[in-house]
Amino acid sequence: MGAMKNCSAWLNCEALKKEVRKLKLVGEGAVKKVYLSEWKEMKVALSQLTLPALKEDFLHGLRMLQSLQSRHVVTLVGYCEDNYSILTEYHPLGSLKHLNATFNLPKYQNLNTWQNRFELAIDYVSIIRYLHNSPLGVLVMCDSNDLDKVLSQYLLTSDFHLVANDLDALPLVDKEKGVWVKCGPREIMGDFVAPEQLWPHGPGVEFHDDLMPPYDEKTDIWKIPAVTDYLLDHVEGSDIVRFHLFDIHAECKRQNPSMRPSAQTVLETYKRVLALLLKELAQSDSKESL
Ligand SMILES: Nc1ncnc2c1ncn2[C@@H]1O[C@H](COP(=O)(O)OP(=O)(O)O)[C@@H](O)[C@H]1O
Ligand SMILES: [Mg+2]
Repeated sequence: MGAMKNCSAWLNCEALKKEVRKLKLVGEGAVKKVYLSEWKEMKVALSQLTLPALKEDFLHGLRMLQSLQSRHVVTLVGYCEDNYSILTEYHPLGSLKHLNATFNLPKYQNLNTWQNRFELAIDYVSIIRYLHNSPLGVLVMCDSNDLDKVLSQYLLTSDFHLVANDLDALPLVDKEKGVWVKCGPREIMGDFVAPEQLWPHGPGVEFHDDLMPPYDEKTDIWKIPAVTDYLLDHVEGSDIVRFHLFDIHAECKRQNPSMRPSAQTVLETYKRVLALLLKELAQSDSKESL
């Protein structure tokens, strides 16, 4: 974590109680309240359960954090199941929701370029690729029914990379065993989610979870163009990136989920487009200097 040189074991209940000092509330979702805290003079994030009814989601999130520790996921520092607490590395730039405000700060304005923004989109797709090919199997990022919700699940690191933070709703798809998923038992609405997540039987039939067909990880692919569009924003050069992503994004938006590309394919396309644009930039720079 941060500048730490040596690994240490995850903190347990006792260490959490003794060594962690809560400083202030910095975030809140449906499941957790998140406090900036201090452990051994280091800043950490202490997440605590909001409502007893959400214990299962909280514990699922903890299991996922434990199993998915990698460069794509926030670092777990400790946990205590007895009082539903999780300690993770603190990221002062907060969630992706604040990305535009962060880029507008005087000290970060010079980082607000299409290159850096496109790199964030590449990070985002890398995380989705990781979740779809995780050590646990194919995981779907279900806590993603609107753009703000998606953005609130990812943190911006101080060196402007992304990590997944909120893993409370990551059901497993296993097509060989016939296991498909649903993102919760309630009706999902809105134009952000994939069409297969919407109630298919029309307004004349009352929603009933038993009649709602399950789906797979391609719901995450459907949402990629909207997230990338937010990440690219409107800076000089971002429209050229959009132009080059037009075809792959059209494929992500295919009505038939099985016709959408995998996250791996989207990632490869993004990386190819970045390399192409950087090459063009280098060529025009060298022409200018002639
Ligand atoms: N490690 C962290 N560093 C900085 N901010 C965080 C951290 N973890 C969470 N937050 C903030 O708290 C918010 C809610 O956290 P989250 O884990 O998504 O809770 P919930 O499960 O209730 O949705 C995040 O959107 C983010 O703004
Ligand atoms: Mg959340």
